[in-house]
Amino acid sequence: MEDKRMVNKSAQFKNMIKHIDQVPENVIKEEERLTAASPFRQKFHIEAKSGFLNDPNGFSFFNGKYHLFYQWTPLAFKKDPSIWHHGWYHLASSDLVNWEDLGPAIESDSPLDKHGTYSGSAMTVNDKLFCIYTGNTWTNTQTDDWRRLPYQVGAWMDKKNRFEKIDKPLITDSFSDCTGHFRDPKIWMHDNNYYAVLGAQRRNLTGTAKIIKSVGSDLTQWQKYGELKTDEKHLGYMWECPDYFEVDGQGVLLFSPQGLPAKGDHYRNIYQTGYFIGEPLNYDTLEFKHEKFKELDAGFDFYATQTMEAPDGRRIMLAWFGISEIDYPTTKYHYSGCLTIPRELIIKDKKLLQRPIRELKSLRKKETQINLLIDDSMSELNLTGMVTQELDFEVDLSLAEKFVLDLRADQENSHHTRLIIDKEKQACILSRKDSGVMFAEKYGTERRRQVKFQEKLHLHIFIDVSSVEIFIGKGEVVFSARIFPNEDQTKIFVQSIGGESHLVGKIWDL
Ligand code: FRU
Repeated sequence: MEDKRMVNKSAQFKNMIKHIDQVPENVIKEEERLTAASPFRQKFHIEAKSGFLNDPNGFSFFNGKYHLFYQWTPLAFKKDPSIWHHGWYHLASSDLVNWEDLGPAIESDSPLDKHGTYSGSAMTVNDKLFCIYTGNTWTNTQTDDWRRLPYQVGAWMDKKNRFEKIDKPLITDSFSDCTGHFRDPKIWMHDNNYYAVLGAQRRNLTGTAKIIKSVGSDLTQWQKYGELKTDEKHLGYMWECPDYFEVDGQGVLLFSPQGLPAKGDHYRNIYQTGYFIGEPLNYDTLEFKHEKFKELDAGFDFYATQTMEAPDGRRIMLAWFGISEIDYPTTKYHYSGCLTIPRELIIKDKKLLQRPIRELKSLRKKETQINLLIDDSMSELNLTGMVTQELDFEVDLSLAEKFVLDLRADQENSHHTRLIIDKEKQACILSRKDSGVMFAEKYGTERRRQVKFQEKLHLHIFIDVSSVEIFIGKGEVVFSARIFPNEDQTKIFVQSIGGESHLVGKIWDL
């Protein structure tokens, strides 16, 4: 894999710049103009003005506001001239819904991060925001024996959103039993000590998580503390973006392992995201006793999660609503990627449930009540014609076998994104076989999950211009999918098979 990347990297190195403001304004404007012309621009999801967006970073609460950054490669799709710049892009919000654009934040301008300001996290410390991230560098680039040399780098942000990097690395290089794949520190505090968990690859090419710990209180010195001792020694070849937190006295390690082979309905995406739930971490031995790995999202596009604890104690998570190596139809407009809606994480029966955060209610505009008996004819839900909507209803299948919901459908309903609830099989199936512009077909066009229910099932759905997020039951199953419908796909159709279904709930334009 690395070999393939070498070629790209050498091209990038030739045209690397430290600061985005070194790029002539007309070049940036042209990229933004192209992006703005896309018919797929989201309405209430975070997207970049142009270029490539991936992981959420530095999700935190500081100085009375939520702060959120994302991995940004602004000129990723500009080939001529190809200029490479990579860093964190900064947003702030008082409600997690309306975001203030604070522009490029940490950039790859120091010897410690010269080949990439990679993912990391942030935490309020006194009157500043402390950010910790991986500075990616390559050594031996003149030879065929390139090697990653990762640094863990610290930076302070003040109340005016100005950054100052700490000159010396907090940690240099990887653990001795690991390869150069060692990154994505997620910081937290325990008993007055700061810890961070990082994703790593052991020398035997298995994935793991390592812990570093700060020495002293000024956060400039850290030590390699040890490996997180989980029960999984062979779960993929690399773990990215790990996050350790506790909810209701239980420990959770949420991370993105790469290299899990597909197994039944699970691990169908190129890379996965999931979690262990267990007893709280033992800080002396680093032992973490946990249940089996569980995949978090049942959809197609979900990776590199990051959580934070809101001031009211809720654990809130965002993810990259995308996955690497997928060629999204938006690349034609020189951008790719967005973030999921923020979701609250709740633990029930040793499982993580995901719920859309309550603040999203402020997006609601026109409300329509529904109380409908659906039969076996394919019928249009008579709505307002807006494509951006929230649906929140219960389906009663006591007299039916299956319920079919076609979102973003055209008039003939020959194109749509289809959700099927199958009572007999106790399963939900999401298909984007006929969703519109096709992509990533080699990873399959259907996702399926078992869902236990008696007769009624709750569905809570967010539809944006080019995505659906479907929360099922109490949030035990969530399908996140990017879709790229044609412009005439503005309708919703429903059908009940094997008897009538009863729908009761509400729909809002967003
Ligand atoms: C995950 C990831 C991280 C890395 C970042 C670089 O998508 O590969 O491991 O820090 O992206 O952009």
